[in-house]
Amino acid sequence: MSKENSHLKSILETVGVVVGSFIFAMIVIVAATKKDSPEPTPKVVQNTVVEEKVAEADVKPVAEVKVAQVTPEKTGDSGSISGEKIAQKNCALCHSSGMMNSPKIGDKEQWAPRIAQGKEMLVNNAIKGIGVMPAKGGNTSLSDAEVAAAVVWMANSSGGSL
Ligand code: HEC
Repeated sequence: MSKENSHLKSILETVGVVVGSFIFAMIVIVAATKKDSPEPTPKVVQNTVVEEKVAEADVKPVAEVKVAQVTPEKTGDSGSISGEKIAQKNCALCHSSGMMNSPKIGDKEQWAPRIAQGKEMLVNNAIKGIGVMPAKGGNTSLSDAEVAAAVVWMANSSGGSL
């Protein structure tokens, strides 16, 4: 009885080792296959991300074009020069706050007597400088037409209709 038992044991052990190594081999194979399989998945994800980026890039220029088209219409400037943009960049430093006693953009009272001088005078003074205001507000790279557009926008934002 005990002899048979030990014989059976050794058979079972052998079978166990064989089956065990089969299972181990299966696990290794499955693991190896699984390691391979995640690779294509990120590629798909990457493609999606790239596509989304492309889609964003497609949308952005459209929005920019829209802004560029609206601004000149809104300010009523001639041509493609945006007086508002020029003024915000080069003139608002003083004129948005009334710094150095400059006529404040939007302050109709301060602008009324200046607007009364006429567009030419205003533009001329802005180009050449007036009082403590430097010529062209200090940015001599601006063209006369750009300064004029800024003057028109500033004056029209302050009760004028140049
Ligand atoms: C450094 C500050 C400063 C900047 C920048 C500046 N200005 Fe002035 N501006 C003044 C001051 C101060 C006055 C008032 C001058 C005076 O009447 O003695 C003035 C006056 C003016 C007037 C009225 C002129 C008149 O005949 O009464 C206009 C128009 C004007 N600025 C346009 C502009 C434009 C356009 C820009 C930008 C391109 C600009 N300014 C940038 C300070 C500035």
